[in-house]
Amino acid sequence: MVEFQSRIGKDGRLTVMEIPFDARETFQMPKGTIFVCGTINGIPYRGKLLSRGNGKQVLTIDKTLQKGLGYAGQDFPVNVAMACENQAEMVDEEKEAIPRLHSDMEAITAIAGRASVRKYADKTVEPQKLEVILRAGLSAPSAKNKRPFHFVVVEDKAVLGAWAAGNSNAKMLSHAPCCIVVCGDGNVEGTRDFLVGGCAAATQNMLIAIHALGLGGVWCGVLRGKEWSRQVAADLYLPVKVEPLTVIALGYPTEQEKAPVPWDMKSHIHYERW
Ligand SMILES: Cc1cc2nc3c(=O)[nH]c(=O)nc-3n(C[C@H](O)[C@H](O)[C@H](O)COP(=O)(O)O)c2cc1C
Repeated sequence: MVEFQSRIGKDGRLTVMEIPFDARETFQMPKGTIFVCGTINGIPYRGKLLSRGNGKQVLTIDKTLQKGLGYAGQDFPVNVAMACENQAEMVDEEKEAIPRLHSDMEAITAIAGRASVRKYADKTVEPQKLEVILRAGLSAPSAKNKRPFHFVVVEDKAVLGAWAAGNSNAKMLSHAPCCIVVCGDGNVEGTRDFLVGGCAAATQNMLIAIHALGLGGVWCGVLRGKEWSRQVAADLYLPVKVEPLTVIALGYPTEQEKAPVPWDMKSHIHYERW
Protein backbone atom coordinates (compact mmCIF):
# COMPACT_ATOMS: atom_id res chain seq x y z
CA MET A 1 0.00 0.00 0.00
CA VAL A 2 1.42 3.38 -1.05
CA GLU A 3 0.34 6.44 0.97
CA PHE A 4 0.56 9.91 -0.52
CA GLN A 5 -1.05 13.34 -0.79
CA SER A 6 -2.61 14.55 -4.01
CA ARG A 7 -5.26 16.82 -5.48
CA ILE A 8 -8.58 16.23 -7.18
CA GLY A 9 -9.46 18.58 -10.01
CA LYS A 10 -10.83 18.88 -13.52
CA ASP A 11 -9.05 17.42 -16.55
CA GLY A 12 -11.26 18.41 -19.48
CA ARG A 13 -14.66 16.84 -18.81
CA LEU A 14 -13.26 14.37 -16.32
CA THR A 15 -12.74 14.82 -12.60
CA VAL A 16 -9.41 13.18 -11.77
CA MET A 17 -6.86 12.68 -9.03
CA GLU A 18 -3.22 13.06 -10.02
CA ILE A 19 -0.81 10.24 -9.19
CA PRO A 20 2.32 12.10 -7.95
CA PHE A 21 4.74 9.24 -8.75
CA ASP A 22 5.54 6.91 -11.61
CA ALA A 23 2.84 4.27 -11.04
CA ARG A 24 4.35 1.90 -13.64
CA GLU A 25 7.66 1.89 -11.79
CA THR A 26 6.20 1.84 -8.24
CA PHE A 27 3.76 -1.00 -9.02
CA GLN A 28 6.25 -2.77 -11.34
CA MET A 29 3.76 -2.71 -14.21
CA PRO A 30 5.76 -1.76 -17.34
CA LYS A 31 2.69 -2.32 -19.49
CA GLY A 32 -1.02 -3.09 -19.26
CA THR A 33 -3.88 -1.50 -17.33
CA ILE A 34 -3.11 -0.73 -13.69
CA PHE A 35 -6.07 -1.58 -11.45
CA VAL A 36 -5.94 0.12 -8.05
CA CYS A 37 -7.91 0.22 -4.81
CA GLY A 38 -7.59 1.85 -1.40
CA THR A 39 -8.98 4.92 0.33
CA ILE A 40 -9.20 8.64 -0.43
CA ASN A 41 -9.68 10.69 2.76
CA GLY A 42 -10.70 7.39 4.38
CA ILE A 43 -13.35 6.58 1.74
CA PRO A 44 -12.84 3.30 -0.16
CA TYR A 45 -12.44 3.35 -3.96
CA ARG A 46 -11.56 0.97 -6.80
CA GLY A 47 -10.61 1.93 -10.32
CA LYS A 48 -7.97 1.90 -13.03
CA LEU A 49 -5.31 4.48 -13.83
CA LEU A 50 -5.53 6.51 -17.03
CA SER A 51 -2.36 7.51 -18.83
CA ARG A 52 -2.11 11.25 -19.57
CA GLY A 53 1.20 11.15 -21.50
CA ASN A 54 4.76 11.86 -20.26
CA GLY A 55 4.37 8.98 -17.78
CA LYS A 56 1.66 10.93 -15.95
CA GLN A 57 -1.20 8.82 -14.57
CA VAL A 58 -4.55 9.89 -13.12
CA LEU A 59 -7.47 8.17 -11.42
CA THR A 60 -10.95 9.25 -12.53
CA ILE A 61 -13.25 10.13 -9.64
CA ASP A 62 -16.84 9.18 -10.43
CA LYS A 63 -19.92 11.08 -9.23
CA THR A 64 -20.55 8.76 -6.26
CA LEU A 65 -17.01 9.13 -4.96
CA GLN A 66 -17.11 12.91 -5.57
CA LYS A 67 -20.25 13.10 -3.44
CA GLY A 68 -18.77 10.89 -0.72
CA LEU A 69 -15.69 13.11 -0.58
CA GLY A 70 -17.72 16.32 -0.59
CA TYR A 71 -16.02 17.47 -3.81
CA ALA A 72 -17.88 20.38 -5.41
CA GLY A 73 -15.74 21.28 -8.41
CA GLN A 74 -12.99 23.17 -6.61
CA ASP A 75 -9.33 22.03 -6.47
CA PHE A 76 -9.34 19.60 -3.56
CA PRO A 77 -6.37 18.23 -1.49
CA VAL A 78 -6.65 14.56 -0.46
CA ASN A 79 -4.80 11.89 1.53
CA VAL A 80 -4.62 8.66 -0.42
CA ALA A 81 -3.79 5.03 0.26
CA MET A 82 -3.34 3.00 -2.94
CA ALA A 83 -2.61 -0.63 -3.68
CA CYS A 84 -2.20 -2.21 -7.10
CA GLU A 85 -4.73 -5.00 -7.65
CA ASN A 86 -2.73 -6.55 -10.52
CA GLN A 87 0.06 -7.23 -8.02
CA ALA A 88 -2.34 -8.84 -5.59
CA GLU A 89 -3.31 -11.22 -8.37
CA MET A 90 0.29 -12.08 -9.07
CA VAL A 91 1.63 -13.00 -5.63
CA ASP A 92 1.84 -16.81 -5.66
CA GLU A 93 2.38 -17.26 -1.90
CA GLU A 94 -0.84 -15.36 -1.22
CA LYS A 95 -2.68 -17.49 -3.77
CA GLU A 96 -1.55 -20.64 -1.99
CA ALA A 97 -2.75 -19.28 1.35
CA ILE A 98 -6.33 -19.04 0.00
CA PRO A 99 -8.28 -22.18 0.89
CA ARG A 100 -9.54 -23.90 -2.22
CA LEU A 101 -13.22 -23.14 -2.73
CA HIS A 102 -14.32 -26.71 -2.74
CA SER A 103 -17.20 -28.85 -1.58
CA ASP A 104 -18.05 -32.39 -2.55
CA MET A 105 -21.48 -31.30 -3.74
CA GLU A 106 -21.93 -30.58 -7.43
CA ALA A 107 -23.14 -27.03 -8.23
CA ILE A 108 -26.61 -27.78 -9.61
CA THR A 109 -27.28 -30.25 -6.78
CA ALA A 110 -26.31 -27.57 -4.25
CA ILE A 111 -28.50 -24.90 -5.89
CA ALA A 112 -31.50 -27.20 -6.27
CA GLY A 113 -31.18 -28.72 -2.78
CA ARG A 114 -30.78 -25.51 -0.77
CA ALA A 115 -33.62 -24.68 1.59
CA SER A 116 -33.87 -22.24 4.51
CA VAL A 117 -32.70 -23.72 7.84
CA ARG A 118 -33.83 -22.01 11.04
CA LYS A 119 -32.87 -24.54 13.74
CA TYR A 120 -29.24 -25.10 14.65
CA ALA A 121 -27.19 -27.38 16.88
CA ASP A 122 -25.17 -25.84 19.70
CA LYS A 123 -21.98 -26.22 17.68
CA THR A 124 -19.52 -23.59 16.45
CA VAL A 125 -18.98 -23.17 12.70
CA GLU A 126 -15.30 -23.89 12.01
CA PRO A 127 -13.32 -20.79 10.88
CA GLN A 128 -12.08 -22.65 7.77
CA LYS A 129 -15.68 -23.28 6.66
CA LEU A 130 -16.62 -19.68 7.42
CA GLU A 131 -13.77 -18.49 5.25
CA VAL A 132 -14.91 -20.62 2.32
CA ILE A 133 -18.46 -19.22 2.74
CA LEU A 134 -17.20 -15.63 2.88
CA ARG A 135 -15.02 -16.15 -0.20
CA ALA A 136 -18.03 -17.59 -2.04
CA GLY A 137 -19.82 -14.32 -1.17
CA LEU A 138 -16.92 -12.24 -2.46
CA SER A 139 -17.08 -14.18 -5.76
CA ALA A 140 -20.51 -12.67 -6.53
CA PRO A 141 -20.99 -10.43 -9.57
CA SER A 142 -21.55 -6.69 -9.11
CA ALA A 143 -22.29 -3.82 -11.50
CA LYS A 144 -19.05 -2.62 -13.13
CA ASN A 145 -17.29 -4.99 -10.72
CA LYS A 146 -17.46 -2.29 -8.01
CA ARG A 147 -17.82 -5.02 -5.35
CA PRO A 148 -19.83 -2.81 -2.98
CA PHE A 149 -20.27 -5.51 -0.32
CA HIS A 150 -18.76 -5.95 3.14
CA PHE A 151 -19.50 -8.94 5.38
CA VAL A 152 -19.53 -8.74 9.18
CA VAL A 153 -19.38 -12.07 11.04
CA VAL A 154 -21.09 -11.92 14.44
CA GLU A 155 -20.77 -14.68 17.05
CA ASP A 156 -21.46 -12.63 20.18
CA LYS A 157 -24.45 -14.35 21.85
CA ALA A 158 -25.62 -11.11 23.49
CA VAL A 159 -25.74 -9.30 20.14
CA LEU A 160 -27.44 -12.24 18.37
CA GLY A 161 -30.00 -12.41 21.20
CA ALA A 162 -30.72 -8.68 21.00
CA TRP A 163 -31.22 -8.86 17.22
CA ALA A 164 -33.54 -11.87 17.61
CA ALA A 165 -35.59 -9.89 20.12
CA GLY A 166 -35.71 -6.87 17.80
CA ASN A 167 -37.22 -8.65 14.77
CA SER A 168 -39.88 -11.37 14.94
CA ASN A 169 -38.68 -12.65 11.54
CA ALA A 170 -35.16 -13.18 12.86
CA LYS A 171 -35.90 -15.16 16.03
CA MET A 172 -33.64 -17.99 14.86
CA LEU A 173 -30.63 -15.74 15.62
CA SER A 174 -31.17 -16.41 19.34
CA HIS A 175 -29.83 -19.95 18.94
CA ALA A 176 -27.63 -19.54 15.85
CA PRO A 177 -23.89 -19.93 16.54
CA CYS A 178 -23.22 -17.03 14.20
CA CYS A 179 -24.54 -14.79 11.47
CA ILE A 180 -23.10 -12.88 8.54
CA VAL A 181 -24.35 -9.34 8.00
CA VAL A 182 -24.09 -8.34 4.34
CA CYS A 183 -23.54 -4.58 4.17
CA GLY A 184 -23.82 -2.42 1.07
CA ASP A 185 -21.32 0.41 0.66
CA GLY A 186 -23.12 3.42 -0.82
CA ASN A 187 -19.77 5.24 -1.08
CA VAL A 188 -18.67 2.73 -3.71
CA GLU A 189 -22.01 2.08 -5.50
CA GLY A 190 -24.29 5.13 -5.75
CA THR A 191 -27.06 3.38 -7.70
CA ARG A 192 -29.20 1.72 -5.05
CA ASP A 193 -30.68 -0.92 -7.35
CA PHE A 194 -27.16 -2.11 -8.18
CA LEU A 195 -26.09 -1.96 -4.52
CA VAL A 196 -29.00 -4.17 -3.47
CA GLY A 197 -28.52 -6.46 -6.49
CA GLY A 198 -24.83 -7.06 -5.77
CA CYS A 199 -25.46 -7.75 -2.08
CA ALA A 200 -28.32 -10.12 -2.95
CA ALA A 201 -26.00 -12.04 -5.30
CA ALA A 202 -23.39 -12.29 -2.53
CA THR A 203 -26.05 -13.47 -0.07
CA GLN A 204 -27.27 -16.22 -2.38
CA ASN A 205 -23.71 -17.37 -3.15
CA MET A 206 -23.11 -17.74 0.59
CA LEU A 207 -26.40 -19.59 1.18
CA ILE A 208 -25.46 -22.12 -1.51
CA ALA A 209 -21.95 -22.51 -0.06
CA ILE A 210 -23.46 -22.99 3.42
CA HIS A 211 -25.67 -25.79 2.11
CA ALA A 212 -22.88 -27.39 0.06
CA LEU A 213 -20.68 -27.55 3.19
CA GLY A 214 -23.33 -29.46 5.17
CA LEU A 215 -24.44 -26.41 7.15
CA GLY A 216 -27.79 -24.64 7.01
CA GLY A 217 -28.70 -20.97 6.78
CA VAL A 218 -31.48 -18.51 6.18
CA TRP A 219 -31.65 -15.09 4.58
CA CYS A 220 -33.17 -12.46 6.94
CA GLY A 221 -34.34 -9.37 5.10
CA VAL A 222 -33.38 -5.94 6.45
CA LEU A 223 -35.91 -3.25 5.64
CA ARG A 224 -34.41 0.16 4.93
CA GLY A 225 -35.20 2.87 7.47
CA LYS A 226 -36.73 0.47 10.01
CA GLU A 227 -35.67 0.27 13.65
CA TRP A 228 -34.01 -3.17 13.17
CA SER A 229 -31.81 -1.82 10.38
CA ARG A 230 -30.74 1.06 12.66
CA GLN A 231 -30.14 -1.37 15.56
CA VAL A 232 -27.90 -3.63 13.43
CA ALA A 233 -26.02 -0.66 11.91
CA ALA A 234 -25.43 0.90 15.35
CA ASP A 235 -24.26 -2.36 16.98
CA LEU A 236 -21.77 -2.89 14.13
CA TYR A 237 -20.55 0.75 14.15
CA LEU A 238 -21.15 0.89 10.39
CA PRO A 239 -19.59 3.94 8.68
CA VAL A 240 -21.67 6.61 6.97
CA LYS A 241 -23.46 5.37 3.82
CA VAL A 242 -22.80 1.72 4.68
CA GLU A 243 -26.02 -0.14 5.49
CA PRO A 244 -26.98 -3.68 6.45
CA LEU A 245 -28.94 -5.23 3.57
CA THR A 246 -29.25 -8.87 4.61
CA VAL A 247 -28.43 -10.98 7.66
CA ILE A 248 -27.62 -14.68 7.14
CA ALA A 249 -28.18 -16.86 10.20
CA LEU A 250 -26.24 -20.12 9.96
CA GLY A 251 -25.12 -23.20 11.82
CA TYR A 252 -25.29 -26.98 11.82
CA PRO A 253 -28.89 -28.04 11.11
CA THR A 254 -30.73 -30.05 13.76
CA GLU A 255 -33.42 -31.17 11.38
CA GLN A 256 -33.58 -32.44 7.84
CA GLU A 257 -34.08 -29.57 5.41
CA LYS A 258 -37.49 -29.60 3.79
CA ALA A 259 -37.27 -30.56 0.12
CA PRO A 260 -37.93 -27.44 -1.96
CA VAL A 261 -41.50 -27.21 -3.28
CA PRO A 262 -41.37 -28.33 -6.92
CA TRP A 263 -42.15 -25.74 -9.56
CA ASP A 264 -44.71 -25.97 -12.29
CA MET A 265 -42.23 -24.96 -15.01
CA LYS A 266 -44.93 -23.79 -17.40
CA SER A 267 -46.29 -21.17 -15.01
CA HIS A 268 -43.10 -19.10 -14.63
CA ILE A 269 -40.87 -19.81 -17.61
CA HIS A 270 -41.51 -18.02 -20.88
CA TYR A 271 -39.80 -18.26 -24.23
CA GLU A 272 -39.46 -15.37 -26.67
CA ARG A 273 -42.35 -13.47 -25.01
CA TRP A 274 -44.65 -13.60 -21.95
C1 LIG B 1 -35.45 -10.93 0.39
C2 LIG B 1 -35.70 -12.08 1.34
C3 LIG B 1 -36.01 -11.80 2.65
C4 LIG B 1 -36.22 -12.84 3.55
N1 LIG B 1 -36.45 -12.54 4.87
C5 LIG B 1 -36.61 -13.55 5.76
C6 LIG B 1 -36.76 -13.27 7.14
O1 LIG B 1 -36.73 -12.11 7.57
N2 LIG B 1 -36.93 -14.31 8.00
C7 LIG B 1 -36.94 -15.62 7.56
O2 LIG B 1 -37.10 -16.52 8.40
N3 LIG B 1 -36.80 -15.92 6.25
C8 LIG B 1 -36.63 -14.92 5.34
N4 LIG B 1 -36.39 -15.21 4.02
C9 LIG B 1 -36.37 -16.62 3.58
C10 LIG B 1 -37.67 -17.00 2.86
O3 LIG B 1 -38.72 -17.07 3.77
C11 LIG B 1 -37.44 -18.35 2.14
O4 LIG B 1 -36.35 -18.24 1.27
C12 LIG B 1 -38.69 -18.75 1.37
O5 LIG B 1 -39.75 -19.04 2.23
C13 LIG B 1 -38.43 -19.98 0.49
O6 LIG B 1 -38.00 -21.08 1.27
P1 LIG B 1 -36.59 -21.78 1.01
O7 LIG B 1 -35.50 -20.76 1.29
O8 LIG B 1 -36.56 -22.91 1.99
O9 LIG B 1 -36.54 -22.23 -0.41
C14 LIG B 1 -36.16 -14.19 3.12
C15 LIG B 1 -35.82 -14.46 1.79
C16 LIG B 1 -35.57 -13.41 0.92
C17 LIG B 1 -35.14 -13.73 -0.50
